[in-house]
Amino acid sequence: MSWFDPSLPIGLASDHAGFALKEKVKEHLVESGYQVLDFGTESTERVDYPDFGAACATAVAERRCSAGVVICGTGIGMSIVANKVRGIRAALCNSVTEARLARQHNDANVLAMGGRIVGETVALDILDTWLTTDYEGGRHQRRLDKIAALEEKQGR
Ligand code: RB5
Repeated sequence: MSWFDPSLPIGLASDHAGFALKEKVKEHLVESGYQVLDFGTESTERVDYPDFGAACATAVAERRCSAGVVICGTGIGMSIVANKVRGIRAALCNSVTEARLARQHNDANVLAMGGRIVGETVALDILDTWLTTDYEGGRHQRRLDKIAALEEKQGR
C-alpha cells in the first residue's frame, strides 16, 4: 500500500527550465503504472513558474491529485509557491536522502526538484524514493500539527 491514493493522478508542473525533466518524470511515472495529470508547461518557451506550480499544488490540496511533482530551474521557486497553498508540504530534494527524510519526517505531499540542478538519473531515484517511503508519524506529527495550526491562524 502506498502513502498516496493510487486511484488519483500524480500532478506534474514545471516552467521552461524544468520542462525537459518534467517530461522524463512523466514518462517514468507512466511506465511505472501511475496515472499523471500534467499542469504544464508544454515547451521551453519562457513562462512564470507560479502559474504552473500553484495549479498543481492546489489540485493536491483539493484532492484532485494524490501528490505533486513540481520542477523549475532550481526547484526553489516551485517549492516556495507550492508551500503557499494550505495543506501542502513541499520538499525541495536534491538527493535520495532528502527525499527519504522528506517523507519519513515531513510527510511531504509535493516533491520539488531543480531541472538545472539534478541530472535525470538522480532525479528519478529521488522520485522513486519519495513515492515509496512512508511517513513515520510519532514525534513528527506534533510538528506537522503546529504547521497546520499556523496555517489556520493565518487564515490560509
Ligand atoms: C527561471 O529562469 C528560473 O528562475 C526558475 O526556473 C527557477 O529556478 C526559480 O526558482
